[in-house]
Amino acid sequence: MPRPTRSTSRTSGSRSAKPRPAPRRYEHFELEALKGLEAVAEAELREVPYVRGGGPLPSGGVRFQFAPDPLVKNGWERLARLRGAVAVYRVHSWDVPRPKALLGHQVLGEVMAYLRSVIEMGGHQSFRLSAAGKDSETFTRLTQEIEEQLGLPHHPEEGELLLRVRPCETEPGWEILARITRRPLSARAWRECNMSGGLNATIAYAMHRLSGQRERDRIFNPMSGSGTLLIERALMGPLDAIVGVDIDPDAVKCAQTNIRAAKREIEVAQVDALNTGLPDRSFDLVISDLPWGDAIGSHGGNEALYPAFLQEMARLTARNGRLCILTHEIKLFERVLAAQTRWHARELFQVYSGGHYPKAYLLSK
Ligand SMILES: C[S@@+](CC[C@H](N)C(=O)[O-])C[C@H]1O[C@@H](n2cnc3c(N)ncnc32)[C@H](O)[C@@H]1O
Repeated sequence: MPRPTRSTSRTSGSRSAKPRPAPRRYEHFELEALKGLEAVAEAELREVPYVRGGGPLPSGGVRFQFAPDPLVKNGWERLARLRGAVAVYRVHSWDVPRPKALLGHQVLGEVMAYLRSVIEMGGHQSFRLSAAGKDSETFTRLTQEIEEQLGLPHHPEEGELLLRVRPCETEPGWEILARITRRPLSARAWRECNMSGGLNATIAYAMHRLSGQRERDRIFNPMSGSGTLLIERALMGPLDAIVGVDIDPDAVKCAQTNIRAAKREIEVAQVDALNTGLPDRSFDLVISDLPWGDAIGSHGGNEALYPAFLQEMARLTARNGRLCILTHEIKLFERVLAAQTRWHARELFQVYSGGHYPKAYLLSK
């Protein structure tokens, strides 16, 4: 006997009446990259689901919208995992003629609600302001209001919630950019040990990204220092083998500390990169930031080191091997390249970092 239609339809109705997921809402953000690495950082960003719109601003930042998963407690966590960016900021703008208007009753209420939402996601414990004229009366009052209303201490140098207040770039008004993380994204959680001459991790990420990642890659990082290039590659995905060497025993210990903190397995040894005793063609990718002759090594020493390095790495790389080099000794490196015939070089990027402007090259045989 057929079942009553009403009953059936009720049953199926209640089955399909699962709670609908809350709709995703797009919010406005800005990505900050090292000067010279904007394209790498933006390419990584565009791979993130639910990122849309925007693009580079004249000032170099990259505007975009992102819709966090409303079911996840920290919906911005995916943005905090970007490796090519220095920082990501939530952006809110107000159509006001000057920053003083941010202190008006209604706008100030909106500013506080906005900052509360950022702190809720990021767990910031203090704040600081970055603005032209940040010691002015207006910004001093804004600082006091944030301290009082949000109970967040102001630390002008080390404040975790970095607030950039500036005129909007593409429309009238003023905007506040609030960094979503307590520390810059370039300050990696794995970095427990630092060395003089340590490489910025976003540059290491960019070098690997532009050198290509292959699961069958046997990777060598001569002059591995604190291990930045090793760890960043190990975090990027599968590979066949990865090994680093440094002549300085303290650097080897430092790299091992960081590798442990990153929970990766990477071999690092105290060996002269020019005398490893390894067989010919041991590696598919050799990647290194050579001494620049200031913090590490000397310009005179580099005159001999650079040509010897290119020759030895030609021996150690496979026939289709790649050699990725970052250096600030640009004139020397290009002179040495021009004087040899084994390697063909392509410039990958030039990046501004810590007062230096080094270049990265990808060499093939
Ligand atoms: C620019 S630092 C590398 C920084 C490293 N990428 C990091 O993130 O910490 C250069 C390193 O080369 C090492 N070095 C210099 N000459 C070397 C050689 N002949 N063999 C192995 N390591 C060497 C130095 O001890 C130093 O740690």
